[in-house]
This record gives sequence, structure tokens and C-alpha cells, in this order.
Amino acid sequence: MKEQIEQLLAEVKNLTCKTEKDIEDARVRLLGKKGEITKLFDEFRTIAPELKREFGQKLNVLKKEATAKIEELKANAQAAGQTADDSFDATLPGDIRDLGSRHPVSIARQQIVSIFRKFGYDVAEGPEIEDDYHVFEALNFPPNHPARDMQDTFFVSAGHPNPLLLRTHTSSVQVRAMEKMQLPIRVICPGRVFRNEAISARAHCIFHQVEGLYIDENVTFADLKQAILLFAREMFGPDTQIRMRPSYFPFTEPSAEVDVSCNICHGKGCNICKGTGWLEILGCGMVDPNVLEASGIDSKKYSGFAFGMGIERIAMLKWQVNDLRHYFENDMRFLREFSSCVEV
Ligand code: DAH
Repeated sequence: MKEQIEQLLAEVKNLTCKTEKDIEDARVRLLGKKGEITKLFDEFRTIAPELKREFGQKLNVLKKEATAKIEELKANAQAAGQTADDSFDATLPGDIRDLGSRHPVSIARQQIVSIFRKFGYDVAEGPEIEDDYHVFEALNFPPNHPARDMQDTFFVSAGHPNPLLLRTHTSSVQVRAMEKMQLPIRVICPGRVFRNEAISARAHCIFHQVEGLYIDENVTFADLKQAILLFAREMFGPDTQIRMRPSYFPFTEPSAEVDVSCNICHGKGCNICKGTGWLEILGCGMVDPNVLEASGIDSKKYSGFAFGMGIERIAMLKWQVNDLRHYFENDMRFLREFSSCVEV
């Protein structure tokens, strides 16, 4: 037994394994349940009592040394960054993970918001499930206006004087802004809207809009025109021209629709602008005095302008997307086209 102890002690002292696996093997071989040192302890029970003192001490020293050595080797291996698996090859190419990127609608939304932030607009959001009052009534929609028709609006609760519905436009948030915010108000309201429409290349039942609202003393149509022109140039390039066509919305008077010069043919006429040289981007106008008064704003003292644009539409024009459905189908080939778009 004496020889065995000395032999093992020498072995422990010279132990040089480096990987965690080798160290664990050595530990099991020496100190494991059936390990050599453990076996010696079993044998120790059977030796003559007069030898116990001497061998007991020796065995304890051996066990201590072995345990300390294993700990030391483990610490060294960890410090050297050894892994448990010796076959690990750091030079092999790694797993290629698909990195996600922003959705084009998010990119366009972010760009629109950041342009108006630069102009000093705040950002406000409102509920997607709205009531009739904020979507229609406060915006001067007459009671029988076709937009209230079940064809266009998803109602959540009908047959109520102020039914709940999925908002059909973000103009509802301008009402909430007028109710809550201190004058002057300069705010944009991005968000998701819902309409009971058949899905096609040009229409969808879910899409996104950005509403804009500016109310102060002496706000004029010239201010509106300038704000839209500056926006268009930031969004579509510094040479962009705009034109305004008279239009009708219940909540603005006068109202207009705005076109930008086609950024593909620069006004010459192409198949994107259908030969006209112009592309429609938004609706706007001077806030109707009835709308100001409905939200408790003195229309004799204050005036304002509002505008509303579809984010998908802006993104389609900017990146020449020809079918609205691409935005909703999550086809990776389409989404990857936008992975290098820079946010502003
Ligand atoms: N809410 C309108 C729509 O969904 C867009 C719009 C037009 C908003 C004119 C406005 C505006 O604020 O003045 O089609």
C-alpha cells in the first residue's frame, strides 16, 4: 500500500492534462467512486490497526494533493479558455443567422416622423378602437355621410348613439390632440387604420396613415403649402415640385389634394405616373371652424391646417412598389430589398 500511495502521489504531482475533458477523466480515475484513491481508502479499512495511523495520514495527504491539483488544473484550463470539447475548431465558418431588418412601412413612417420632428411637430398617438364621435362627428361628418356606412367601417358595437369602431383614419387623433393639448398645437399622429375594403394591389383593409395638425393664430393656406413643399422635398428629393388640386373633406375648408412631381421621370411622364408627371401623396386643408369649435377652440381667434397621408402610398412612390399586398405578405425576397435603407 505504501508503494501505491507514493506512486499515486508522484502521478498527481506530474499531472499535466489541459482540456476540461482530460481533467474530468483524471478526477474520475483518481477520486471518483471507483477511483484509485477511493479504492485505497476501502482497502485501508482492512489493514492492521497498528498501521492505520501511518497510512491514514499518508492517504489523507494523497487525497488532499489530488483534489488541489485537479482544482488547479481546472482553473488553468478556464483561464486559457479551453473548452470541454477538444474537437472544437475555431477556424470553421460560424452559423449564418438571418439578421432581421426594418419593414419598409416602419422605415417610411420613421422618415416621415423625423422630417416633421425637424419642423417642430410633436408626435401623438390615439386608440385604434375609437368611437364614432372622434372618427366622424367631431370632424364634421354629416350624420348620413357615406363613410359612416357599414361598407367602409368595421363596427365593434353598432346600434349605439356613439358606437365603437376601428378607426378609418388617423384624423381621429387630431380631435384628441385638440381636446388635450395646449395651443398652439403642432402635432403629427402616425398609426394604423382599418377599412372594410376588398384587398387588391391598390387597397387593403389595414394600412397606415400619418395625420398632421397645426393650430395657432393667423395660420394661413400659404403656411400649409410651404409645410407640404418642405416635407415633399425632404422625402422625395430637393428638386421635387408640388401641385394642389381643389378637393373636399368634411373637416377642412378649403380642402386640397397634393401631387408631387414624379421622381422617376421628373415630370416627363412615365408608366409610374401614368404619363401625367404627377403622383398624388396626400389630402389637406384648413381646419373647418366647426371642427375647431367642436373641440372647444375659438375659431375667431385661431385657425389651422391639417393633412393626412397613407404611409404605404408614400413608401410605394419612394421605392416604386407596385402592389400594396407586398407589404403584408412577408416575402423575404421583398423585405430584403429594404435591409440597407438608411434611417434619417
Ligand atoms: N383623413 C383623410 C383620409 O383618410 C385624409 C385627410 C385629408 C386628412 C385631408 C386631413 C385632411 O387632415 O385635411 O382620407
